Amino acid sequence: MSETLAGKDAPVTDRRPAIVEVAPRDGLQSIRDPLPTDTKIALIRDLVAAGCRRVEIGSFVSPRAVPQMHDMAEIAAAVLDLPARLMALVPNVRGAERAAGAGIREIGYVFSVSESHNRSNVRQSVADSLDGLGAVAAALPENTRLRVNVATAFDCPFEGTVPLDAVLAATRRAAAIAPEAEIALCDTTGRANPFAVAERFRAAMALPETARSTWAFHGHDTFGQGVANALAAWHAGVPAFDAAAAGLGGCPFAPGATGNTATEDLVFAFNEGGLDTGIDLGKLLDVADRVAALPGGVTGSHLRHVPRERAARAA
Ligand code: COA
Ligand code: ZN
Repeated sequence: MSETLAGKDAPVTDRRPAIVEVAPRDGLQSIRDPLPTDTKIALIRDLVAAGCRRVEIGSFVSPRAVPQMHDMAEIAAAVLDLPARLMALVPNVRGAERAAGAGIREIGYVFSVSESHNRSNVRQSVADSLDGLGAVAAALPENTRLRVNVATAFDCPFEGTVPLDAVLAATRRAAAIAPEAEIALCDTTGRANPFAVAERFRAAMALPETARSTWAFHGHDTFGQGVANALAAWHAGVPAFDAAAAGLGGCPFAPGATGNTATEDLVFAFNEGGLDTGIDLGKLLDVADRVAALPGGVTGSHLRHVPRERAARAA
């Protein structure tokens, strides 16, 4: 790697940040008209070729709710051979069974802390969603990893700031149901700030119920805080970060939110600190360009628009 501003003062640590590339799910779900299945398969394969070792390949949800995800079984079948951890999002047992049947061995179950977003997203109460988590955990085949996405863990598009107590109560219950799951506190709307991110993770990690949990941060870049938020989580001890190539996205269930933090921006930040994500930034930028060219997509990303950075990598 070329010398960065951090240089010899880069932090000495054995910890390595893990990026979970979510453009094929959180990104593509924002594009209403289904893209060709082959385009979606090529995207996942390209991301892995660029060094992504964890990829959320899509969601086994109702195709009525998210038409883009109608062809998940086909997509899964075409990418199962890849050398990466492939995760799929599910809202219920039906989704978990479909994902398992398609060969997926890492399930992301989603529920929101705020009642109004949970109802808008998965059409049930938070209490019913927590019951659903228990049912999904019980239905998983052996050797299947479980991730719990705690959505609206900072801000809700309908209710505003979500009280920390409510986030901790939901996290406590989720961890009690699934003690070994990876728990992702999700900034669904991109309205969090680095101070709140650090505070909420520290509080969640201190809960006795989460002693065996592992952690991830799922961030959006709506207010330009995406990278700063992820780094705040990193310094609080979080090892894994959701991000989308080109910052593709904008949640149809979170009005006003833009896409996830761009993977290239986050990889750049970690690289500057001497922290290797395993992702080849030059190759990732090429994939991000292809993502940005998808019809109907809205992108974010800073790095993609910096000519000097691009020229340096091409040299
Ligand atoms: N996969 C595929 N189809 C599913 C499904 C799943 N996991 N779960 C339910 N369905 C189908 C049902 O069979 C039913 O189909 P039909 O109308 O043809 O009979 C239809 O979806 C509605 O089922 P119902 O149980 O009444 O659910 P609902 O209308 O209350 O919707 C969800 C609930 C959770 C299925 C739906 O809101 C959903 O898929 N949400 C996901 C939203 C999302 O992806 N958000 C972004 C991620 S954060
Ligand atoms: Zn999201």
